[in-house]
Amino acid sequence: MTAKELSVEEKLRLICGQDSWHTVDFDGKIPGVCMSDGPVGLRKVAVNEKGEWYDQPSVAYPALHVLANSWSRECAREMGEALADDCKEKNVDILLAPGVNVKRNPLNGRNFEYLSEDPLLAGTLAYEYIDGLQSKGVGACLKHYYVNNLEYNRLDQSSEVDERTLREIYLKSFELACEAKPISAMCAYNRINGVFASENEKGFRILREEFGFDGAVISDWGAVHDRTACAKAGLDLEMPYSEGNYNKLVADYKAGKIADEEVDACADRVLKLAERCEEMRRTRKVERTVEERFAVARKIAEEGIVLLKNDGILPLEKGQSIAVSGDFAAPGDSAKIAGGGSALVQWRGERFDLAKILGEKLGGEVRYARAFWERGLICDARKAMTDAAECDVNVICAGTGAGIETEGRDREDMRLPKWEEESIRRLAEINPNTVVVLFAGSAVDVSAWEDCVAGIVLAGFCGERGGEAVTEILTGEVNPSGKLSETFPCCFEDVPASSTDNDPCVARYEEGIDVGYRYYDTYGFEVAYPFGFGLSYSEFAYSGLKVKTSGDKAEVSFSVKNVAGPAGKEVSQLYIRPIASYVHRPEKELKGFVKQEIAPGKTAKVKFALTLKDFAYYSTAVDGWRTDDGLYEILVGASSRDIWLQALVKIEGGKISFVKETD
Ligand code: BGC
Repeated sequence: MTAKELSVEEKLRLICGQDSWHTVDFDGKIPGVCMSDGPVGLRKVAVNEKGEWYDQPSVAYPALHVLANSWSRECAREMGEALADDCKEKNVDILLAPGVNVKRNPLNGRNFEYLSEDPLLAGTLAYEYIDGLQSKGVGACLKHYYVNNLEYNRLDQSSEVDERTLREIYLKSFELACEAKPISAMCAYNRINGVFASENEKGFRILREEFGFDGAVISDWGAVHDRTACAKAGLDLEMPYSEGNYNKLVADYKAGKIADEEVDACADRVLKLAERCEEMRRTRKVERTVEERFAVARKIAEEGIVLLKNDGILPLEKGQSIAVSGDFAAPGDSAKIAGGGSALVQWRGERFDLAKILGEKLGGEVRYARAFWERGLICDARKAMTDAAECDVNVICAGTGAGIETEGRDREDMRLPKWEEESIRRLAEINPNTVVVLFAGSAVDVSAWEDCVAGIVLAGFCGERGGEAVTEILTGEVNPSGKLSETFPCCFEDVPASSTDNDPCVARYEEGIDVGYRYYDTYGFEVAYPFGFGLSYSEFAYSGLKVKTSGDKAEVSFSVKNVAGPAGKEVSQLYIRPIASYVHRPEKELKGFVKQEIAPGKTAKVKFALTLKDFAYYSTAVDGWRTDDGLYEILVGASSRDIWLQALVKIEGGKISFVKETD
């Protein structure tokens, strides 16, 4: 069916949604679409007998920042596939996910919903997630398009960004994700260079004409201020239904402020969306059992938990006595290990009890005390202190949780709450054999307590199977393999956005393309933990870099050996660094990554393929991508600051040639 077959009234109605979660179906005349949140698990809203809204329980997977810390394409694909089953079970056609906005400010309340500070990592994992979801019959909704990096005054603040930065950073992750052909995309709340994202005609044109997006653009919930302006710009569907906006649209149509072709363009895309969903519905069947989906959630947590510090205290040994403390270890509600807002999922399984699981795994004595000197409440602090003194190892579970990291509000600072920092310091003083397990959705300033403790494990918002994954990492049953998808700066003042985001009207992206490690590495900042960093119980050594070139292509190969420790997974990273450039380039840019398992003493061969495009920058002089002739270094290593192998290549007349190895 096309828009031409509908009456004007029907068309206008169609592009305005039915209610909070559905499109109109005109009593079965056209297929209706059901959509639900969100990135870390299905949040299908239902009404109880009292007429109150509630979120139905569903598998709570690790949040997207944990997925990103896994650097695993396989995990991203499996997460999409498993989520499709959650949706199919509840007749949801479109999952409002994933979020691919590049992170620039660690205080953004929604960072946990986004993947990385690097567009390649974010876009690549989003591609797998979308393809996994859609290959199993459920549509994705790529969000929030675009430059959505803050919750502060989120319905009005404008992100002021130059064109090159948009293209290289903030649009790039969307461009890469679009290769998976998401059937829908959601516009952001914020303004971009003064214009609402929902009315940003240029942005929608780039999405469709340059990124090949052929789905429907949906508004974020309540992001429409002027339905007519949005429709003219190319926003197809307003969600949720708003009577005021619909009436205004009808009045504007009658006054000739919007043409039939403009209405038809939107209506046709909504019809196509509905037909695609109906088509997918026909072949849908649930493939994974709930237990199998729990296993996916656990695998992502196992691969996405990052070991940040280990002075030899980990893994814990069988028979050691352990004092576990902190709010985050106690069995409780979802909010403790997840972020808040539309992404918060009411988990489906049992609440985990970290001390209990640890006790079962280690076989020795494990005690638990809540401990934190929270908001003047002296919890069982005395017991925690006695436990810490009497046990071999002290495991403190600290973090932020949904109360601090949530949609609608940014964090106040990068540090943990004062009472948590205080508890860590006091307990570590009593027993320096202290490990902190951090449940947080974004970078944390660890400076107040890092030196007092012997180990730090970043569990992140690790989902409902996170308890098992954390204990497996602590006990060495799983060898940690997660690496940071965002830098942990030393303090918030080091973040360029710290001084440019405080104006309610405008956030000035003055650091331009130097986002995250691109900034810290270019300007020589010390950081607490660099981008791409994560420890393992094994040691890996890199050698044998070879660069084979042929015309405009290069193949980079090298070996990674597991030289000590158990079998483990290593994430190898490839960066490029232009040597002398006529435009500013960051010190390094990620161009490839691979994660693979390597048995003890064994060597894995890694290969990356590069083309001229990998060396390009966006030139505003030609309004397009350019690769300049010149020298470029290829850097291979275990993190952005742990480069093992380097080679120089030359680009001349569209051809790449190898020059020499460098050190
Ligand atoms: C959020 C979206 C979400 C929508 C529906 C909005 O407030 O920004 O990410 O999908 O609500 O819950």
